[in-house]
Amino acid sequence: MTAKVIVVTNQKGGCGKTTLTMNLAATLGLKNKVLVVDGDPQGSATRWAASSSDDKPFPASVMGLANAGDKVHREIKKYLNDYEYIVIDCPPAVENPFTGSALMIADLALIPIVPSPTDLWSAIGIQKLINNVMVMNENLQTRLVANMCQGNISISKEALVLIEEFEFPKTKTDIYQRTAYRQAAAFGGSVHDLDNAKAKDELKSLVKEIRAILV
Ligand SMILES: Nc1ncnc2c1ncn2[C@@H]1O[C@H](COP(=O)(O)OP(=O)(O)OP(=O)(O)O)[C@@H](O)[C@H]1O
Ligand SMILES: [Mg+2]
Repeated sequence: MTAKVIVVTNQKGGCGKTTLTMNLAATLGLKNKVLVVDGDPQGSATRWAASSSDDKPFPASVMGLANAGDKVHREIKKYLNDYEYIVIDCPPAVENPFTGSALMIADLALIPIVPSPTDLWSAIGIQKLINNVMVMNENLQTRLVANMCQGNISISKEALVLIEEFEFPKTKTDIYQRTAYRQAAAFGGSVHDLDNAKAKDELKSLVKEIRAILV
């Protein structure tokens, strides 16, 4: 077994990196052995897992490596044979060396974006970093994931025009704004522990897309 490495990154704060990381890890964790690497000095992913109850621990291992800096790829390589998926939550700063190092060994970069103009403008910087990394990691694939979508048409025409200007495609699955995501953080679990079929379905559909990208 060699783990597929998924890096969740965007220098924009609050776009849903940790929420996507944890719900993705929990969804993959329904079938696979998963490690979450917490790369944020704020330790949100670590706190998230620590908030779970003793009788229902978070369904993936969580390891804090925020201080590994530009050597994180070297640390993660030590665990590639122990897990099927490694999901890495990145800090909200493009100048933090952690992100570039994690991307060096990534198979897939996921960029959660809130489909509003100001959020999309501030997500543009991450493209440059990914392009730089791709000089050395040629097989790196990248997808945008629309998060906190609202309304019947998940993404407005104006936002779609901006999204199409990105060099990387968007996943077909959009993640909606739902209280279930906030609740999941509060009790250290995922939407799979909650009674919200739509949230479960969108996560399952996203994971299906990701599995297809990573074969
Ligand atoms: N799909 C969603 N529906 C509802 N709330 C959401 C959703 N995604 C994220 N949130 C909420 O938005 C806030 C920011 O999310 P999160 O902490 O995951 O972002 P982040 O990108 O990791 O932030 P940071 O840059 O600080 O690390 C949190 O309160 C979270 O519960
Ligand atoms: Mg975070």
